Amino acid sequence: MSLRLLCSIQFQTILLLLVVLLHVQTLAVFGISIGTSTYFGGNETDHQALLAFKTQITRDPENVFSSWNDSLHFCEWEGVTCGRKHRRVIVLDLQAKGLVGSLSPYIGNLSFIREIVLANNTIGGKIPDEVGNLFRLQALRLSNNSFEGEIPANLSHCSNLYHLDVGRNNLSGSIPMELAFLSKLEYLYVRKNNLKGEIPAFIGNLRSLQQLSVAFNFLGGHIPDALGQLRSLTFLGLAGNKLFGLIPPSLYNLSSITVFALYENELSGSLPTNLFLTLPNLQLFLISENQFIGSLPVSLSNASKLQYFEVDTNNFIGKFSVNFGGLKNLEHFLIGRNNFGSVDDDEMNFFQSLVNCSSLQKIDLGSNQFEGTLPNVLGNLSTQLTDFTISENLIFGDIPIGMGNLVNLTILEMAYNKFTGRIPDDISSLKKLQLLDLSDNKLSGRLPITLGNLSLLNKLFLDNNILQGTIPPNLSQNNLTGTIPKQLFAISMLSISLSLAQNFFVGSLPSEVGNLVHLSVLNLSENKLSGKIPSSLGFCTSLEYLYVEGNLFQGEIPTSLSSLSGIQVMDLSRNNFSSQIPNFLEKLSLKKLNLSFNDFQGEVPTKGVFANASAISVIENSRLCGGISKLMLSSCLTKKEKKRKWSLTLTIVISVALYKGILGEDGSIVAVKVLNLQRQGAFRSFISDVDFQRNDFKALVYEFMPNGSLEKWLHMDLETDTEQAKIQNLNVLQRTNIAIDCQVVHCDLKPSNILFDCDMTAHVGDFGLAKFLAELTIPKQSSSIGIRGTIGYTPPEYGLGSEVSTKGDVYSYGILLLEMITGKRPTDHMFEGGSNLHNYASMALPNCVMEIVDSKLLNNVDEVIDNHNFSPTNRKEECLISMVKVGVACSMELPQERWDIIKAISELHLVRDILLGSRS
Ligand SMILES: *[C@@H]1O[C@H](CO)[C@@H](O)[C@H](O)[C@H]1NC(C)=O
Ligand SMILES: *[C@@H]1O[C@H](CO)[C@@H](O)[C@H](O)[C@H]1NC(C)=O
Ligand SMILES: *[C@@H]1O[C@H](CO)[C@@H](O)[C@H](O)[C@H]1NC(C)=O
Ligand SMILES: *[C@@H]1O[C@H](CO)[C@@H](O)[C@H](O)[C@H]1NC(C)=O
Ligand SMILES: *[C@@H]1O[C@H](CO)[C@@H](O)[C@H](O)[C@H]1NC(C)=O
Ligand SMILES: *[C@@H]1O[C@H](CO)[C@@H](O)[C@H](O)[C@H]1NC(C)=O
Ligand SMILES: *[C@@H]1O[C@H](CO)[C@@H](O)[C@H](O)[C@H]1NC(C)=O
Repeated sequence: MSLRLLCSIQFQTILLLLVVLLHVQTLAVFGISIGTSTYFGGNETDHQALLAFKTQITRDPENVFSSWNDSLHFCEWEGVTCGRKHRRVIVLDLQAKGLVGSLSPYIGNLSFIREIVLANNTIGGKIPDEVGNLFRLQALRLSNNSFEGEIPANLSHCSNLYHLDVGRNNLSGSIPMELAFLSKLEYLYVRKNNLKGEIPAFIGNLRSLQQLSVAFNFLGGHIPDALGQLRSLTFLGLAGNKLFGLIPPSLYNLSSITVFALYENELSGSLPTNLFLTLPNLQLFLISENQFIGSLPVSLSNASKLQYFEVDTNNFIGKFSVNFGGLKNLEHFLIGRNNFGSVDDDEMNFFQSLVNCSSLQKIDLGSNQFEGTLPNVLGNLSTQLTDFTISENLIFGDIPIGMGNLVNLTILEMAYNKFTGRIPDDISSLKKLQLLDLSDNKLSGRLPITLGNLSLLNKLFLDNNILQGTIPPNLSQNNLTGTIPKQLFAISMLSISLSLAQNFFVGSLPSEVGNLVHLSVLNLSENKLSGKIPSSLGFCTSLEYLYVEGNLFQGEIPTSLSSLSGIQVMDLSRNNFSSQIPNFLEKLSLKKLNLSFNDFQGEVPTKGVFANASAISVIENSRLCGGISKLMLSSCLTKKEKKRKWSLTLTIVISVALYKGILGEDGSIVAVKVLNLQRQGAFRSFISDVDFQRNDFKALVYEFMPNGSLEKWLHMDLETDTEQAKIQNLNVLQRTNIAIDCQVVHCDLKPSNILFDCDMTAHVGDFGLAKFLAELTIPKQSSSIGIRGTIGYTPPEYGLGSEVSTKGDVYSYGILLLEMITGKRPTDHMFEGGSNLHNYASMALPNCVMEIVDSKLLNNVDEVIDNHNFSPTNRKEECLISMVKVGVACSMELPQERWDIIKAISELHLVRDILLGSRS
């Protein structure tokens, strides 16, 4: 046994003897310390404690606990380290394992433990008081979890603790007084919790303290003077609290301090002139966002180790006369939002020495009273520079040339000054530039055409200058004329805003605008842009605000804009848009939509943004109708009715007697089926009374029939019509069903009037008749005049002026049936010169029917018959012969020779039964 180990064991023994009566576990240690293998059960306690710890962890995404099983000794478990000899747990380190759960009080039984590292997980609940039992504990690192409740006062028993980090949790209460007993503490981190109260003065007694962070809590009061006693302190983090008053002068004695972070408080007073002499090791001096006054300490020139100097957002004043020559490590120099500045000519001379700071990354001089010109030496600053801000000062003269050397610049803000002259061309060399703000100056001349090369630029503000010419970008409120250059849209990273508002741009919006896929604001308002909105605008899917008001745009809102899923505000007002208002606008996330002062027409939608009258404006569009009632637009009914003439389909469903009734002189009630091909709503039909001039209509409105018309099914070309070809052709059973479905009396029965719903159930409709009826009922015409069926389907007697009759309908029906079987239109070329479909079919009866049937049907005959175990040969022919017979019998030239519809249908039922095998 080495001397060192012996010492340590003796030390432990002595220590533990003192508490032997308090701790049972001590016996185990005692046993070991006397060099025997005597064992008093301590390892089992550790084992149980670890298992209990594990049970409180509810999520273990990295499967840490897979090794925590009985086939391995717990000392081999992942994250567990045991003492080499006594095999007791001395370290539990499961940081950043994605663990979720709470911390078991059994942790307090790991009496040999020195380090508990559970940082960067999601362990919540209270930090158990039992941790206070762990008197050997040296490091407790629980930061970045979800612990809540108070910091346990019992921690004060962990007298060996030197590293306590419970930062980034949700701890509440105050910093417990008891921590004063932790005299070995070197690191005390309680930052980013919800701690209240004050910074306790006892912390000043923790003489070993090197790092203290209580930042980002809700601590108030003054900074205790006692902190000045922490001679070893290197890190002082008090930022983000509600501390007020002066910095106690004692703090300026902490000569070891490297990080002095007091920003975001309510501290006041001025800084001693020798501050950087008494704190010579300062690297980070961060006091932004307080209420400090006075001038900066002249000793700043001596702060040779300084990296971050951040004093922005205070009330500092005075001439800035620092010599940065010795600040070789300076990276951040932020003094914005103060009142620095004098009227001295040499005001800006400090730039000369800043050139020596070769690590400089950020300079913020914004919102001060600096007055003067920017020296050309600016271009000699460190090429490490990423941010340069001098907005809101009184700088005049030219933008210095040479800034193009600052190749790492990402942010350049020089707005609200008095810069004159041109924008130097070498700005275009700043390839990493993301933000360029030169707005509100007196810059003139043309813009560098190469600005468009700045491919990362996402914010560009040049408004309120006197820029001229025809070229580039956020060029709002200038006098720019000409067309919008396409190059402008090459800046595809432009992700925030492009404003060309209030200029005199003419011509159309280039379709390249679609390159701006990251753009969230596009403002083209108040120009003279014309033509259509390019559909490529739909590619700008990040767009949230689109302003094109006050231009001469025309045409329609492109349907591609339906992809602008994040759009909030769209202002298209004061243009010449003339289309319908597209319904897709209802589905977008619009909060505001202005369509006023255009020539939009037709129905205003009612859903989405249109449901909120205060979110939309449609005024001064004289041809709009409908919309929600608050808009007080005229109803669209009359317009619909006009349209119905052309687009609605009617089917007469009334009895023969009433049918006649419609055509009578009395204008009596007529019931019609209205098939609305424009609507795609629920399939359910409904009846409504429509005031149709002086006549009432009962309208039965159907949805658009998704499966198209019989015409299409019968005569589709399988080769070319790919959409239809995917679907199986109509078989003979289906055709029979269709024929049976179509038994309604109808003025104009033909395949194109037979429409199929999703289930391939046939519905009869008609365009032509609707038109006819509309005309008929308004001017009250005689019953027979004007009835025009479709050539080929109209019975011959109609041509001779006969009245419409059921016999006429039967004729059409017969022809339809023959067409369905033969696949030949009555208007087929083969029937030119005297022949017709009726004769053609009639001549094939009975023996040659198979020669005239639709060839597509022949294949299907086999299918149907096979499916029903039906003996093929004669029976399939028999069915087809029967159908042709019905067709021929219904389409006899003389009305009186035609079958009536009832007979025809019953014959077809017979055919169907045979096809279905229920009859033989
Ligand atoms: C505890 O120690 C004893 C004796 O060294 C050993 O036999 C036993 O396996 C240990 N138990 C655990 C759980 O480590
Ligand atoms: C116990 O864990 C070890 C290490 O992960 C593994 O190899 C072994 O298969 C596990 N045994 C059981 C029984 O799960
Ligand atoms: C360990 O701790 C738990 C909870 O704090 C306690 O109930 C238990 O008795 C302790 N002792 C042992 C040997 O597990
Ligand atoms: C927690 O995670 C952060 C970020 O990954 C890391 O910087 C820090 O060192 C981690 N802390 C601990 C104690 O593991
Ligand atoms: C907190 O922990 C998570 C998970 O390990 C990690 O991703 C994150 O960086 C940590 N945050 C900080 C500030 O350490
Ligand atoms: C916490 O410490 C107090 C004494 O300060 C003690 O009475 C109490 O038992 C301890 N609680 C636990 C859970 O260790
Ligand atoms: C933090 O605790 C407060 C109560 O003290 C609770 O309202 C809040 O939801 C908690 N926040 C988190 C992130 O757990």
